[in-house]
Amino acid sequence: MTQNRHLTVDEEREMHAFCQYIREWNLEYRDTCGHSRRVFVLTFGCQQNEADSEKLLGMALSMGYEKMEEPAMTDPATGEEIIADLILVNTCAIREHAEKKALSNIGQYKHLKARHPGTMIGVCGCMVSQEHRCEEIRRRYPYVDFVLGTASLHRIPQMLVQRMEKQKRQFYPTETDSLVVEGLPIERESTHQAWVSIMYGCNNFCSYCIVPYVRGRERSRDPEAIYREVENLVRAGYKDITLLGQNVNSYGKDLESKVGFAELLRRLDGIEGDYLLRFMTSHPKDATKDLVDVMAEGRHIARQFHLPLQSGNDKVLREMNRHYTLEQYRAVLDDIREKMPDAAVSTDIIVGFPGETEEEFGDTLDFLSYARFDSIFSFLYSPRSGTPAAKREDQIPEEIKSERFGRLLELQARISLEKNKPLEKKTLRVLCDGKSKNNEDICSGRTEGNKIVFFDALPSDRGQFVWVRIDRADTFALYGTIDRNYGKTGE
Ligand code: 5AD
Ligand code: SF4
Repeated sequence: MTQNRHLTVDEEREMHAFCQYIREWNLEYRDTCGHSRRVFVLTFGCQQNEADSEKLLGMALSMGYEKMEEPAMTDPATGEEIIADLILVNTCAIREHAEKKALSNIGQYKHLKARHPGTMIGVCGCMVSQEHRCEEIRRRYPYVDFVLGTASLHRIPQMLVQRMEKQKRQFYPTETDSLVVEGLPIERESTHQAWVSIMYGCNNFCSYCIVPYVRGRERSRDPEAIYREVENLVRAGYKDITLLGQNVNSYGKDLESKVGFAELLRRLDGIEGDYLLRFMTSHPKDATKDLVDVMAEGRHIARQFHLPLQSGNDKVLREMNRHYTLEQYRAVLDDIREKMPDAAVSTDIIVGFPGETEEEFGDTLDFLSYARFDSIFSFLYSPRSGTPAAKREDQIPEEIKSERFGRLLELQARISLEKNKPLEKKTLRVLCDGKSKNNEDICSGRTEGNKIVFFDALPSDRGQFVWVRIDRADTFALYGTIDRNYGKTGE
């Protein structure tokens, strides 16, 4: 059992001192210039990264920065360009595309820094936790001030002080400790939906995946700290709380308290209030019957399960190092459906893993037809440097991957539509998110099963549960009308 390390009292004191130093520097600036220094945080990747970015922003605001929505904008009063004083890019490494996008954005910041040399630029997260990418930033992006890997985000105040004092550029791609840092300020993006990281890292080493290399070994947070965070969120009115971990089912295995994930969920479900608890991601090899029981009996646990399958063929699963067979996966799925027939189940599929034959891909299609997931997240296999699968010589040509991908999407679109159709004319409880991002005239929200719903709502409905009668069900969304009387007349 690895012993997780928290920051020592001295390290915490030092971090707060750095924070205070920058805060004073920023306050002095505000007093002279009449406005605060500004921060812009750009996030790529998964929910864990979004959660990390809320901490990056939280730290920046606590140091006296003011949030900007873009790295540069025009001052409406003067027409002059305003460029952020601190730019933090939180990167992803899961697929090549994510890395390319981050590098392209970082490339553009060169011009911003040329126009506003005071801007400090930090690149954080998974991409730069890889030595070769950290080196690339060092050599090819000389205007980047510091690099912080996923386990070093708490060093932001220290980085700023060192750069402010004109010390050399700082690079922290990895930390050797299994650090769990508690108590960092979090600036949540939403007022009703919250991420709560319950553990960091991954021990599974699926043969295609970079995550264990960039996020380190599994480290669980103390159950009491998680309980307090969730309780505070519920008290503050948060309605949709998602527990995050690369493999939440192995939560607690590294702790002495012996509180496993099912037990943690049971305890959190005991918190009184009007809210939904979700979690992701669950590894099928560790999904227990006990967990499904806790969900089925829960009062606040959303009946929604994300259970990544990756492939519908046993040989491919073995080569992916997934440690389960299709039969075992099917047993978990059947258990979920038996105990919660209304549960929404989603999955992840990788298309074109090295050596995947047409027949093996066909098995994935067959399994999708059997499993009838509500939705899938599908990905073209992307070779990740340093992983075993990337070294294989039997890589699948891009055009074959794309052709298979098309067939997979087509099949799943049919299934998703068939799964959604019976929801027409039903009235569902929906958490209203507010105005839809793509169409200002309409609101969007999510059902307990995490399906997106569009409907008309009042501004006061934002962040509230409402009842929506579904008028039309589509492949990727539901369309409905709020029923304000639902449940009030004994329906
Ligand atoms: N290529 C394509 N997809 C990947 N995933 C992880 N690594 C890769 C890769 N190298 C997918 C898996 C995982 C999801 C988060 O990303 O399906 O479940
Ligand atoms: Fe990657 Fe597998 Fe860990 Fe998920 S469980 S993060 S796919 S190594």
